[in-house]
Amino acid sequence: MANYDVIVIGAGPGGYVCAIRCAQLGLKTAVVEGRDTLGGTCLNVGCIPSKALLHASHMLHEAEHNFETMGLKGAKPKVDWKQMQAYKDDTIGQNTKGIEFLFKKNKIDWLKGWGSIPAAGQVKVGDEVHTAKNIIIASGSEPSALPGVEVDEKVVVTSTGALSLGKVPKSMVVIGAGVIGLELGSVYKRLGADVTVVEFLDVVTPGMDGEVQKTFQRMLKKQGINFVMGAAVQKTEASKTKAKVTYTLRKDDSEHQIEADVVLVATGRKPFTDGLGLDALGVELSPRGQIKVGQDWQTNVPGIYAIGDCIDGPMLAHKAEDEGMAAAEQVAGKHGHVNYGVIPGVIYTHPEVANVGATEEELKEQGRAYKVGKFSFMGNGRAKANFAGDGFVKLLADAETDRILGCHIIGPAAGDLIHEICVGMEFGASAEDIALTCHAHPTYSEAVREAALACGDGPIHS
Ligand code: FAD
Ligand code: NAI
Repeated sequence: MANYDVIVIGAGPGGYVCAIRCAQLGLKTAVVEGRDTLGGTCLNVGCIPSKALLHASHMLHEAEHNFETMGLKGAKPKVDWKQMQAYKDDTIGQNTKGIEFLFKKNKIDWLKGWGSIPAAGQVKVGDEVHTAKNIIIASGSEPSALPGVEVDEKVVVTSTGALSLGKVPKSMVVIGAGVIGLELGSVYKRLGADVTVVEFLDVVTPGMDGEVQKTFQRMLKKQGINFVMGAAVQKTEASKTKAKVTYTLRKDDSEHQIEADVVLVATGRKPFTDGLGLDALGVELSPRGQIKVGQDWQTNVPGIYAIGDCIDGPMLAHKAEDEGMAAAEQVAGKHGHVNYGVIPGVIYTHPEVANVGATEEELKEQGRAYKVGKFSFMGNGRAKANFAGDGFVKLLADAETDRILGCHIIGPAAGDLIHEICVGMEFGASAEDIALTCHAHPTYSEAVREAALACGDGPIHS
């Protein structure tokens, strides 16, 4: 008799959500986690701490730039970095303890330590071997290494070090204009650092809608972030207090150097599967090190499943959570499902950037007939009152059927606005369905409706 119906390895958003759903479905469940706290990358060194620092630094920006205009006068706030770190750490603590509470409530055992799989049906933690009918690997990801760049987490840092620097640096070089680089680059720019982003490609945030990419970079430049585009970083050389970054410009192969107090390496993440014993078990991996799974998230070894950042797909907490729930349902004999066509992506800068579905570039490549409905936040009364008129909503719909194919928003609360479109896409909505839905005034979401109107007879306020 196995000890457990399910053992989940890893307590990030994939693993902890999966375990809770397993328990809700009546399965005896344990989770193995090697960190001292639950919640994985996301709660400890990812989504939650970065959003706390984004929030605090945005408040400072508002106080510095918009308070006087609204008649709010007073001394300019000063940054107490120690207190800001304490606020961030307290936010992490509240969230990770919340997961501990949920585990107790759902009678999930936390097996503390690093787990390995000596054989199908067995998980070893320390000296103890636990048995389970099903094993679900949710071991997450780690920062990718960049050749020639040695991370010390003090002067040359990954996102983990960047969230807990000893002080706000005077200057920072960010390698990579992806999500991490632009979110954390924004934080330090707002806190007073001179920030330069060095990016390999000619555009920021690869894979996003081209119009959004251009607008986003323009807005970040306006906020004072410097960009060196088309630049391949060759190496870093660090002393105790500074680091020099050497890069070559792709257009002419010329070599350049830039120095800063801190260098943030944000050039992507890779699956973390070290120590699980997957080789010996014969679990198949992709060339990029992702665990290969079928439609039910089962690997090629029966009874062993995998979800989240360690498998294919966008490395996002909500994608991992959805897979966690669906895999739990599969294990319980139900029909868990994830619609990979409707996974939103959000960048929590100011303004926020959000997207779901196809980009215009993808539709062109597919040769699909589509229409574009675009509406600027300049025509939205609420956005104007809140100094948030820069940006737009862009809705893409099928030219013939009017069915929504994608949506790209850069502007206030974009990360919340996008969900109206996600729900619409799940229900196979047309742009007209959104346009015919009454939206409260004055809200930012009226801009989404106006973009939908722009797919038909035209928006009202532009
Ligand atoms: P993880 O969260 O990485 O959790 C895996 C867990 O497994 C870890 O705790 C690890 O210790 C444990 N583990 C691994 N191997 C073993 C083992 N052998 N034994 C025991 N335990 C093990 N995503 C968003 O959607 N929104 C955001 O705003 C966002 N912000 C981010 C900001 C930063 C700075 C970073 C780095 C990431 C961010 N992400 C964000 C991505 C998000 O954190 C990941 O997509 C998400 O955490 C993946 O969840 P997961 O459960 O697959 O893995
Ligand atoms: P990323 O893949 O988003 O961006 C990496 C960037 O680095 C790319 O633009 C790439 O062209 C560039 N790059 C690669 N090699 C380079 C080199 N040698 N020189 C210069 N530039 C180089 O990766 P990032 O930002 O590290 O994020 C990792 C993951 O974390 C992402 O997949 C993302 O989904 C997730 N994440 C999500 C967040 C969110 O949802 N808000 C926030 C933070 C992270």
